Amino acid sequence: MPDEAATRALGAALALAIAPGMSIRLQGDLGAGKTTLTRALLAECGYAGKVKSPTYTLVESYSLPAMTVHHFDLYRFADPQEWDDSGFSDYFAPDTLCLIEWPDKAGTLLPAADIELRLEVEGEGRCYHIKALTETGLACLKRLSTQAVGNC
Ligand SMILES: Nc1ncnc2c1ncn2[C@@H]1O[C@H](COP(=O)(O)OP(=O)(O)OP(=O)(O)O)[C@@H](O)[C@H]1O
Ligand SMILES: [Mg+2]
Repeated sequence: MPDEAATRALGAALALAIAPGMSIRLQGDLGAGKTTLTRALLAECGYAGKVKSPTYTLVESYSLPAMTVHHFDLYRFADPQEWDDSGFSDYFAPDTLCLIEWPDKAGTLLPAADIELRLEVEGEGRCYHIKALTETGLACLKRLSTQAVGNC
């Protein structure tokens, strides 16, 4: 993905393939493009407002016509136990989509995700790899074009 527009195109494509009830782990270093991709996904889902990074708030939620989207950023977790202390598992529901940046910070306490999307810096651009972790995730990836499965 040579530029930010390409990352946004992937986010928009993903928006057309997801379904309520899913959760997606967003892996990648600082500045890899996780929030950029999330912004594009939300825009394609019809959200017209500002999408701020949840770095300090840990989660930002968006009530959309089709579902509520919860966008987590767990970078500031000092301990995985903070996941349980925050009651964040309650955010996972049949009518929500959960996107989690820095999912490893919650260790094993994070509920099982349907998809893992990894973004990596590659020269001036990015590459990505996406994999299904559940049957629901597999069905979602089948709705994406084959070209969108990864280029890392
Ligand atoms: N394919 C791309 N090629 C080049 N630059 C890109 C690409 N995709 C995104 N970017 C740029 O990389 C930066 C990504 O920032 P972003 O906040 O989305 O990263 P992040 O993965 O959420 O980081 P953090 O872990 O700090 O939250 C932005 O400046 C964006 O313009
Ligand atoms: Mg981010």
